[in-house]
Amino acid sequence: MNPMDARFRTIIEPFRIKVVEPIPFTDRAERAELLEVAGYNLFNLPSRKVTIDLLTDSGTGAMSVQQWAQMFKGDEAYAGAESWHRLDRTVRDLTGFRFVLPCHQGRAAEKLLFTVLGGTGKVIPNNSHFDTTRAHVEYTGAEARDLPSRATADTQLEDPFKGNMNLEALERLLESEADRVPLVAVTITNNSAGGQPVSMANLKAVRALCDRFKKPLFLDAARFAENAFFVKQREPEYAERSVRAIAEEAFRLADGCWISAKKDGMVNIGGLLAFNDEALHEPLRNLLILNEGFPTYGGLAGRDLEGLAQGLLEVTDEDYLRYRARSVEYLGRGLEEAGVPVLKPFGGHAVYVDARRFLPRMPAHRFPAQAVSAALYLEGGIRSVEIGSLMFGRKDPQTGQEYPAPQELVRLALPRRVYTQAHVDYCIEVGAYLAAHKDEIRGLRIVQEAPILRHFTARLAPVSE
Ligand code: F0G
Repeated sequence: MNPMDARFRTIIEPFRIKVVEPIPFTDRAERAELLEVAGYNLFNLPSRKVTIDLLTDSGTGAMSVQQWAQMFKGDEAYAGAESWHRLDRTVRDLTGFRFVLPCHQGRAAEKLLFTVLGGTGKVIPNNSHFDTTRAHVEYTGAEARDLPSRATADTQLEDPFKGNMNLEALERLLESEADRVPLVAVTITNNSAGGQPVSMANLKAVRALCDRFKKPLFLDAARFAENAFFVKQREPEYAERSVRAIAEEAFRLADGCWISAKKDGMVNIGGLLAFNDEALHEPLRNLLILNEGFPTYGGLAGRDLEGLAQGLLEVTDEDYLRYRARSVEYLGRGLEEAGVPVLKPFGGHAVYVDARRFLPRMPAHRFPAQAVSAALYLEGGIRSVEIGSLMFGRKDPQTGQEYPAPQELVRLALPRRVYTQAHVDYCIEVGAYLAAHKDEIRGLRIVQEAPILRHFTARLAPVSE
């Protein structure tokens, strides 16, 4: 319901547009050629050839007037910049953590943390690792173990907190292999499982297990505000609390967090690592200086620190979060009604098309989600990202055998405050066109791939069968 006036249903964008950026239009023949040149990998497309870019919600948002204004105040001093102190205070107020380290983005924080706490023989449990998190854990020789709620197996199951950690599985792991576990991680919202929220009840239960086994709990909190908004909507105990208060409580259940600020930090670049343990501070700070920069800028310009400090204050605005959740839902419902199966319930930052249900006859080794993603570009100039067997499948280096990912999803991520309802209506129309012509979508095979994070650089080609 629109809080402004109960008579009107439309949730209008809670902003007006002050600066515009033209978007490019291309024709189908040009896109067919571009796809071939790109090796059917949408990461290889020049953005000036993408009409609606739903590749990611990471670093692609629009900043507010107030963020731009703050950026002019950026203190670019190498050490002790005022902009840093403002960000440090903002993050400590929000999270309650004692130590805050700035980084250039989320994966830099992951690298620091897992360099110190990971290593051969270790196991890191997480409701679901995102791709870079998994890669950083594995790079240190540790094992990244996903323990998602069982509800994630069924893309159509309407579970309000499908992002939850599987508590029994976590308990079993801690009972049998506690010495190998240096920390427990929970990703809010759970991106790999569909941008699904984690309930406060689940977080509290994870906290209790961490207390019992004396393990630190870290949040991968890239989308902490979207998570808190869903908690307010779906967890009755929290219905009367502000989103900001819910987010504050979630952070205070943990011992630390890392944040890709390119999401709910509302900035184009930035990351944070924050924690309470004094013993971690020195090794992490030293690695920060080695890899990122002095601890009062950490790979960011003073103006970036200002934009982030302001973004962290704006992101818990409930009119903004309501508009955001409603935009995702509008896209999801529209695609579903157009005959495109989508993951339910709708998540916080993206709609995920279930390519396995959409193309049930296409086998995993033909990368159905990547094929749908390529078709969305070919027919509509829309860029999405595959979260399926190209991203998470495995190839046996000896036999060449492909092991598929548990799901074949195509993510349509909405950048923050960028597109309007007309852009979303267009995407729904393209979805309807694909649904009517899905027999023409051809599977793909890999022509070239890298040993880690292959989806970023792989080259593919259509197969004729
Ligand atoms: N954790 C989560 C849950 C993420 O979604 C991401 C990035 C990262 C960590 C890494 O942060 O990109 O700043 O280094 N996700 C982006 C995405 C790339 O498209 O979902 P980063």
